[in-house]
Amino acid sequence: MRVNSWNGWDPLRHVLVGRADGTMVQAPEPAVQRDFPADGFPLGTYGPMPEEMTAAANEQLDAFAVQLAARGVQVSRPTPIDFSQPVSTPDWEHPTGFGCMPPRDVLITVGNEILEATMCYRSRWFEYLCYRPVLQELFEADPDMRWEAAPKPRLTDASFVPGFWNEYQTLSKAEQLARVAEHDLVLTEEEPLFDAADIARFGVDLFVQLSLVTNRKGVDWLRRHFPDHRVHEVTFTNTHPLHIDATWVPLRPGLVLHNGERPADPELVKYFEVNDWQVVEAVQPASWKHHPRLSFCSPWLAVNILNLDPRTVCVEAEEVRLAEQLDGLGMEVVPVPFRAVGPFGGGLHCATVDIWREGGLEDYFPNRCGRF
Ligand code: ARG
Repeated sequence: MRVNSWNGWDPLRHVLVGRADGTMVQAPEPAVQRDFPADGFPLGTYGPMPEEMTAAANEQLDAFAVQLAARGVQVSRPTPIDFSQPVSTPDWEHPTGFGCMPPRDVLITVGNEILEATMCYRSRWFEYLCYRPVLQELFEADPDMRWEAAPKPRLTDASFVPGFWNEYQTLSKAEQLARVAEHDLVLTEEEPLFDAADIARFGVDLFVQLSLVTNRKGVDWLRRHFPDHRVHEVTFTNTHPLHIDATWVPLRPGLVLHNGERPADPELVKYFEVNDWQVVEAVQPASWKHHPRLSFCSPWLAVNILNLDPRTVCVEAEEVRLAEQLDGLGMEVVPVPFRAVGPFGGGLHCATVDIWREGGLEDYFPNRCGRF
């Protein structure tokens, strides 16, 4: 067992795969408000996800774990805690936790380090506990593993813009996009806040998306924490920026997949181009006719794919057009049925954390450009 992973594409040897057990529709809190009136959870109500949905998601997660193991990838799993109990700190109490399906949100591996993110949902404050058994095991097994945790946030009301959601909802799309461009969203700059899934790893370059869960201080903290990296703050034209891994997706050195419905900053595109990277616009996702109930993700989970190596990529089984596109780009596609997992917080990338990929730290961007 070893901890080592510098990017999203090198050959995968060991991976963490989440579990759907006990996932909750969270009670409203300053950072997020669930509102699923058609599915029995109107704003203000909360409770466990329906049992049959949890079972279906776990079936696909377990099958994915088996599929990975059959390809020689070692798989670890989290240990769920009781997410139905209230979460409290000396500053506040919240009626529910969330779950441990999307481990990508909480943990990031950079080289021989695994870092626990701050998170900014009160319901996710203790989620790291689900990963502690695996982290302890890795810490015992690999004498070089660095186990780190970002400062636990206070998450008092000072960390959130009061009344944000009520106001944001009344804005036009153009007004929302203007707010996103200025990064004038729900989080204040009271303290560093970030989710690990807002970080995309490209060797020396780490791209961190400012989002509904990541603030400027969070990026600044990451910049100071990883002095041997270039940590870039990036934004996309997206009314609900949340996790970079359905928007800007590394495929292999020289090739990044972009969700064109969320246009990238032209300077970011230029930075890739002057370093001989090709930016490919992803085809439209398969329609979600059976739009999953209780889902807070978009159909763009299609591009939330997991590389097994620079030539092989796991893609949700119904995303046939995307599979064809990737095939045309010289990738071998491994189809994975994963539709039932979406409502639990994501696709194949969200559901995993790389623990060990072969390869070392490389600089894929030798040329500077603009603010990059
Ligand atoms: N917000 C993204 C979308 O709906 C989903 C990304 C989820 N990623 C994750 N790591 N949980 O398009």
